[in-house]
Amino acid sequence: MAQAKAVSKATPAGKAGSKDKKEEQVDTLWSRRDFFSYAGWASFLGAVGLSSLYFTRLLFPRVLFEPSPIFKAGNPMDYTVGEVSTKWVNDQRVWIVRDDEGIYAIFALCTHLGCTPRWLRSENKYKCPCHGSGFTREGMHFEGPAPRPLERLKIALAPDGQLIIDKSKKFLYEKGQWGDPGSKFLI
Ligand code: FES
Repeated sequence: MAQAKAVSKATPAGKAGSKDKKEEQVDTLWSRRDFFSYAGWASFLGAVGLSSLYFTRLLFPRVLFEPSPIFKAGNPMDYTVGEVSTKWVNDQRVWIVRDDEGIYAIFALCTHLGCTPRWLRSENKYKCPCHGSGFTREGMHFEGPAPRPLERLKIALAPDGQLIIDKSKKFLYEKGQWGDPGSKFLI
């Protein structure tokens, strides 16, 4: 009987102990299994997110957008016969020259080392400030270290009646190209 009493006494204490353990488990925010489960999902979602960002980035390649080499230079009648127009030198690095036959465009880039010459109207020449090369109104080199004439650029008339200059197409004197179609707009 005494043994039975002891058991009956021990039983409520055991129940209380397991209750405490359950309460302890409930009090813990995440079990170990939950923790690893959440960590796994977080890693997975992180990887998916990074992959998505990477592929989205691929849709927008790193392209350097350079300005177009083509520009409109206004109406041919804007240019005076016998004059060198410096209107486009700052923006486009181009002189527009009109003579008795028509209009041509000269690239304002010294053929020595690439400085920008200046048009000296009073001396009727382009003069490079860097090492002193000189070029005639037509672009021929005649003094200084420049090894060849200035380059001419493609010129044409756009459908809207404006001159259109294409700096990507050059005409070189030393290759006999100054007389090629597109090197001069005949009026
Ligand atoms: S860059 Fe023009 S003379 Fe040297």
